[in-house]
Amino acid sequence: MINPLRQGMRLSKTIEPCTLIIFGATGDLTQRKLLPALFNLEQQGLLPGGMAIVGFARREKDDRTFRTELMEALQRNIRPGGEAALQRFSRRLHYLRGDFNEADAFRRLSDLLPKLAESGRRPAHHLFYLATPPSQYETIAMNLGQSGLAQSPTGWTRLIVEKPFGRDLASARSLNARLTSVFQEDQLFRIDHYLGKETVQNILVFRFANGIFEPIWNRSFVDHVQITVAEDLGMEGRGRFFEETGILRDIVQNHLLQLLCLTAMEPPSTFASAEVRDEKVKVLRAMPRMSDPRCGSVRGQYGPGSLAGADLIGYRSEPGVAPDSTTETYVALKMFVDNWRWAGVPFFLRAGKRLAKKATEIAIVFKDAPLQMFGPEAEKEATSNVLALNIQPNEGITLRFDSKVPGPSNRVRPVAMEFRYGASFGESTPDAYERLLLDALIGDATLFTRLDENETAWEIFTPLLESWQTADSGCIFPYSAGTWGPTEAETLLPPGRRWRRL
Ligand code: BG6
Repeated sequence: MINPLRQGMRLSKTIEPCTLIIFGATGDLTQRKLLPALFNLEQQGLLPGGMAIVGFARREKDDRTFRTELMEALQRNIRPGGEAALQRFSRRLHYLRGDFNEADAFRRLSDLLPKLAESGRRPAHHLFYLATPPSQYETIAMNLGQSGLAQSPTGWTRLIVEKPFGRDLASARSLNARLTSVFQEDQLFRIDHYLGKETVQNILVFRFANGIFEPIWNRSFVDHVQITVAEDLGMEGRGRFFEETGILRDIVQNHLLQLLCLTAMEPPSTFASAEVRDEKVKVLRAMPRMSDPRCGSVRGQYGPGSLAGADLIGYRSEPGVAPDSTTETYVALKMFVDNWRWAGVPFFLRAGKRLAKKATEIAIVFKDAPLQMFGPEAEKEATSNVLALNIQPNEGITLRFDSKVPGPSNRVRPVAMEFRYGASFGESTPDAYERLLLDALIGDATLFTRLDENETAWEIFTPLLESWQTADSGCIFPYSAGTWGPTEAETLLPPGRRWRRL
């Protein structure tokens, strides 16, 4: 789909030849996401001639082994006729072994970069990517600064930073302060891969390219909003990481909050990066901190259970997890946006691991009709109108409304109008990282998180994280793996309202 928000941008900006330097090049993210996404861009002819990719990591390797290993892995993603692209891609790849805290390694990097810019004949544009554990971010940024690589005398320099970006307000502020002591804010591209998803970008197109939805997108017509990020997977070997993180930091503070911002924000004056991000920040600033008595939260942790006939272990039995862990694998929240449009409308958010299925959805639940005029039977069966933006899987949009059941009586039943990407566009949507890498190469920061956005998000959640530290462990409710989370989460919703069954 050609996204109307981006169409002009694509035509007016091209990617200049540059060098992409990936720190953590042998890690999971690089291998699973970044290099396949770059190779897909190569296959679509979107990478400029003369662009080089340097993998920087600690493991002993040379250019040849790095290339050979990758080529073997990428063979799996190859499209028909893609062999030439594979060869082209292979020629772009280089490897530099080094420790992230070793000044000498950065000197070697700064010696290598001019050689890759076609022997210094063209401007030296550099895109650095921090695909390492977050504990390395500051060290790498400082070393880039000290070796003179944070600015290029002849071109642009940008730094992509992966999440998690801080673990509370204080740590986010400190990381931001360190990074901005070396880089300008407009050089920083903080990734939230949800913003790279086609269905997430479509939220703004759906709202602002159509005339019929926006007039009812407010407190007069909306009863409440439910945003769900449900996963059926458990820890998949990430138990140690998750113990330190929990679902609120891992998914809610970033992905869910971004979905909320795009759902709640006002139309920006233009779709330029500054204006779009300004509007998102305004939403965050209008949200009461989680210590506000109107807000609420329910934490859960999965125990043993089963899904599709397979037995599943509980969180506390996952490798790397403490047997008495109080880390939350599920959270449900009640939040508000205190502005003119949304005053009094609750936003219910939930995210969980090992739930009954994978589903990400934003549901706008509308107020009921003012009068039920089709008799007591119809009144019993009537449901609220719901507009569901199905982010993944089964990407699309569904509108639920009541309809008369054919026949002599006035029986009422909910039915749905559906749009599905697959049926309408016939193509699978591109991977989020393809889009985000492309935007960082172009220099468009619209889909990246700005400093004030990041810190305001932490301001909202830090009081909750602090209260959990002092709360007794009884405040975390168990649920069986493969279910929809603890039943206590229902208590957040007002009488007569329920979490959606997805
Ligand atoms: C990541 C989290 O940011 O998002 C993971 O660290 C989570 O725990 C993943 O599984 C979900 O992403 P997606 O694109 O599969 O919804």
